Amino acid sequence: MDIVPLRPDFGVEIRGVTLARIAADDALYNAVRAAFEEHSVLVFRGQDTDNDVQLAFTRRFGEPEIVPVGTSGMGGHFITLTNFGKDGKVVAPDHRYALRNKANQLWHTDSSFKTTPALASILSARVVPEHGGGTEFVSTRLAFESFPAALQQRLENSFAWHNYAHSKGKIAKDLASPAERDAFPPVCWRMVWRNPVNGRKALYLASHACGVEGMAEQAGLAFIDELTDLSTKQGTSYEHAWKPGDVVMWDNRATMHRGRPWPGTEPRLMVRTTVSASAADGLETMRPPKQQAAE
Ligand code: OGA
Ligand code: MN
Repeated sequence: MDIVPLRPDFGVEIRGVTLARIAADDALYNAVRAAFEEHSVLVFRGQDTDNDVQLAFTRRFGEPEIVPVGTSGMGGHFITLTNFGKDGKVVAPDHRYALRNKANQLWHTDSSFKTTPALASILSARVVPEHGGGTEFVSTRLAFESFPAALQQRLENSFAWHNYAHSKGKIAKDLASPAERDAFPPVCWRMVWRNPVNGRKALYLASHACGVEGMAEQAGLAFIDELTDLSTKQGTSYEHAWKPGDVVMWDNRATMHRGRPWPGTEPRLMVRTTVSASAADGLETMRPPKQQAAE
């Protein structure tokens, strides 16, 4: 197995192994897990990934998320990001699927709106468009480490509210369905996630963030926008240009990502699995003190 940097500061390509072998081999898994903790984004090329292999690989890292029926998944462990309609044809630009793809093009981290947020996401390319449609990543760990000490300290004592309907509402008012609103009421997290393996801290933020505890709504939103801009400065990202068979895995505690646009007439089909965060991943440190007391 070889580890090849994608950028000098974060992200690596893992060569010479398949997901199936990693899933079946403790030593390989341990090496990949260490790379995940250290480099935040892992790229695997030329994988022959079907849903079974992807899920077996996902399970090595923790509990796979279950996607509630009626949301963008179809129940079960897989989220399908696609612009294919039920008839197998590419959908119109105002179709729900197309609008959801647009919501994915806002900087975010996955599942921050859930009561158990995500440790990792694993995205595999099944059908890729000819032009565009990449996925772009930034390190919110490196962003946090670049902030002045006073801002770091403020963030370490700050909590943000995350709401699924908020990010979807930026694209279309009712893009989050009533069932989704019920499934995902707003949740509150510390704005800094400390990695318990290496002690490094990262800004924890997403397009789902709709307010900052103790701040007036507009001021909180302005602070969130400012932090998003600071974390996504030009020249700080890695953009993955997809080829069929690629799999990218990222650490939702230490990165943000966004999909990039592509011509709406070109088909794209990606399958995502997601690992829920656990106490060992530092989750307990993320809960606001009030919530900890209530539990
Ligand atoms: C995701 C996501 C963006 C893309 O799978 O979580 O945001 O480019 N994907 O498909
Ligand atoms: Mn995402």
